[in-house]
Amino acid sequence: MIRIQIPATSANLGSGFDSLGIALTMYNQVWMEEADSIEISSRDDVPVPQDENNLIFWSAQFLYERCGKKLSGLHIEQQNDIPMARGLGSSSACIVAGLLGANRLLGNPLSRQELVNLATEIEGHPDNTTPALCGGLVTSAIEGKRVYSVSVPVSEKIRFAVMIPPFELKTEIARGALPESYTRQDAVYNLSRSALMTASLFSGSLENLRVAVQDKLHQPYRMKFIPGVDTVFRISRELGAYGTYISGAGPSIVSIVDDIGAKNFQQHAIEYLQQKNVTGWRLEILRADSNGADVFLD
Ligand code: HSE
Repeated sequence: MIRIQIPATSANLGSGFDSLGIALTMYNQVWMEEADSIEISSRDDVPVPQDENNLIFWSAQFLYERCGKKLSGLHIEQQNDIPMARGLGSSSACIVAGLLGANRLLGNPLSRQELVNLATEIEGHPDNTTPALCGGLVTSAIEGKRVYSVSVPVSEKIRFAVMIPPFELKTEIARGALPESYTRQDAVYNLSRSALMTASLFSGSLENLRVAVQDKLHQPYRMKFIPGVDTVFRISRELGAYGTYISGAGPSIVSIVDDIGAKNFQQHAIEYLQQKNVTGWRLEILRADSNGADVFLD
C-alpha cells in the first residue's frame, strides 16, 4: 500500500480571500491500493463515507478518467487528524490525497503543476489545495484553467495558535453569506493588506501582522456563524497575538504568535475562554509545514 500524508491548511489569512493559504504541521494519513471494489475504512473513530461519494475515492477516479484509465476500485484507509468542517482544509486534504495517490498508482503521469490545477478544478478555489500540495505560504491566482502560484517559506519565529470550536461550519453556508460585489475602497483595503501579509510572514516583520490580517471581504459577514468569536479575538489580543483571523471559511480562529505568545496561549487560552463561557474549544500550536503532501511506501 502507499501512504499519502497531507497537511492541514489555513486559507485567506484574513485579507487574502481565496488567494492566500498556509500549510500547517497537522496531518491526515491515507493508505491506498488498487482493488476490484471500493473498500473504505477509518483507522480512527472518525466516520467517513464508504462508497463512491468518498471525496478521496472521487478525486482518485477523477484523475484516472483524465488520464484515460478505468478505476475498478480502491482500498482506502483514512486517519483524519484534521478536524472536519472547521476551516482547516479537511476537504482539500481528501482531494489532494485522492489525486496524489492516484497519480502515484498510475506511475506519476501528471506533474505537480497539473495536480495543482486539477485540485483547484475540483475545489473551486486554490487557497487550500495549493498549500496542501506544495507546503509553505502560498499565493495563488487562477487564469483560465491554470493556477499561477508561489510558495515561500515562513519565518522560523512564527507559530500558529489554532483555536478549534466544538461545532462545524459548512463552507457553502459561510460563502453564501458574502455579498455579490464590493466597493473600490474595500477592494483596495484588502489588496494592500494581503500583499503586506505575504511580505511580512516571509520576512518575519511581525509588527505588520495586526494590520495585514484585516479584511472587509469575508470576515465581517461570517462572524455571526461563530458563537464566541468576539471573546476569542479579545483574549487572543490579551495573550499577545500579532494578528488573529478566521481560518478559511471558519469556524476555527488562528492567531499568529511568536514563542512567548505560544506559551501564553498554551497556559491560558482555553481557561480564559471557559471563564467567559466559551466552552468546548481546543488549542493546537502549529508551525508552517514547508513540504506539502507526500507519498510513502509503507
Ligand atoms: N477561501 C475560501 C473561503 C476558503 O473563504 O470561502 C474555504 O474553502
